[in-house]
Amino acid sequence: MDPLYTPIILIGLLIVVTLVVILVDKLLGGGGERKITVNKDNVITISGRETALNALTNNKIFLPSSCGGKATCGTCKFRLVDWHEAPKPTEIPFLSKDEISEGVRLSCQVVVTEDMQVEVPPSVLNVKPFYGKVVEVEQLTHDIRRIKFEMKEDFVFKPGQYLQIEVPGIETTRAYSIASNPNDLRHPEVIIRLVPGGVATKFIHKALVIGDTLKITGPFGDFFLQEESTRPIIMIAGGSGKAPIRSIIYKLIEQNMPRKAQYFFGARTKKDLYYTKEFKDVEAMYPNFKYIPALSTPLPEDEWDLDIGLITEVVARHTGDLSGHEAYLCGSPGMIDACIKVLREKGMPEEHIYFDKF
Ligand SMILES: Cc1cc2nc3c(=O)[nH]c(=O)nc-3n(C[C@H](O)[C@H](O)[C@H](O)COP(=O)(O)OP(=O)(O)OC[C@H]3O[C@@H](n4cnc5c(N)ncnc54)[C@H](O)[C@@H]3O)c2cc1C
Ligand code: FES
Repeated sequence: MDPLYTPIILIGLLIVVTLVVILVDKLLGGGGERKITVNKDNVITISGRETALNALTNNKIFLPSSCGGKATCGTCKFRLVDWHEAPKPTEIPFLSKDEISEGVRLSCQVVVTEDMQVEVPPSVLNVKPFYGKVVEVEQLTHDIRRIKFEMKEDFVFKPGQYLQIEVPGIETTRAYSIASNPNDLRHPEVIIRLVPGGVATKFIHKALVIGDTLKITGPFGDFFLQEESTRPIIMIAGGSGKAPIRSIIYKLIEQNMPRKAQYFFGARTKKDLYYTKEFKDVEAMYPNFKYIPALSTPLPEDEWDLDIGLITEVVARHTGDLSGHEAYLCGSPGMIDACIKVLREKGMPEEHIYFDKF
């Protein structure tokens, strides 16, 4: 063959391959522009193949996404109005039967392959990104740190809600309950436990230093103090679950502790306790407030002479009929489920039990 023809043949082959790739991409729903209509009137246009969560985020609609799109948190729900593709197996554990029949999906699991209409909770339309400068880092226990940020703009939240931190470099987000006084709009704080092998917590515990600036979105969440209620309160937390309860207690203090409030905190040993003095001081100032820390497996050197046992046992011991109370629970899923059972047995209506599991 004449060597003059070689480049022509190569260019021809390249064109054919490119056309095939474009065709396959189109067949898989990857090409062209697609429109997502959000809450009937907000239309965003995307091109390329991406998840609905990413498409919305890139267009400044911040659905919660506590696991960064791994289908392990279930927080990124939205409703597909006119497009009823069955949910993926990864979504099923997070969706009730009613939600499935209404078209609710995890937005991180939906790939936008055609125009769609979606519904998101109106509250997320107010969520925006902030940049928080780290101004304090405090080691509270062997594996729990408090981080205080300074914001350039007001960060308004309800006591109990959470924010999301983007881990620099890998652009994945994680949720952290806000642990600070809801009146201090420029200095949100978070309390973060180191999870072995955890991406975000390794960064926060091993690399983050004062002066760093992190991208933060929020506030998120429907776990927050019911401020208009007059019911006595039971609060139960374990580990870093103390974070949102601390914010709730700031609010109750601001209101001069108008209702009776019992706060149970469960830990394994004394080295897992923190803020004991802070909450004992609140107890000393407000007769309506009682702080009950309990250890499940105290060590001899802990010299612990207060409550011992699982937090469920301790709650059961200290409380009577709870039919007129409301509860705020924050901790591991196992702990929360066990506590809900105890509260229900003591007569507390399900609709008065508020919780965040993590
Ligand atoms: C609404 C909400 C509020 C939250 N608030 C807080 C808070 O105030 N403080 C806080 O410390 N965390 C909080 N979390 C948990 C937090 O978002 C992260 O999941 C956690 O910090 C782990 O992130 P990671 O990237 O280090 O771990 P990943 O890299 O996501 O996970 C690493 C491994 O650890 C496992 N794992 C993940 N999380 C946990 C866990 N909590 N316990 C045990 N194993 C785990 C994973 O399954 C995985 O195998 C909250 C979560 C939610 C949904
Ligand atoms: S972002 Fe966690 S399940 Fe979708």
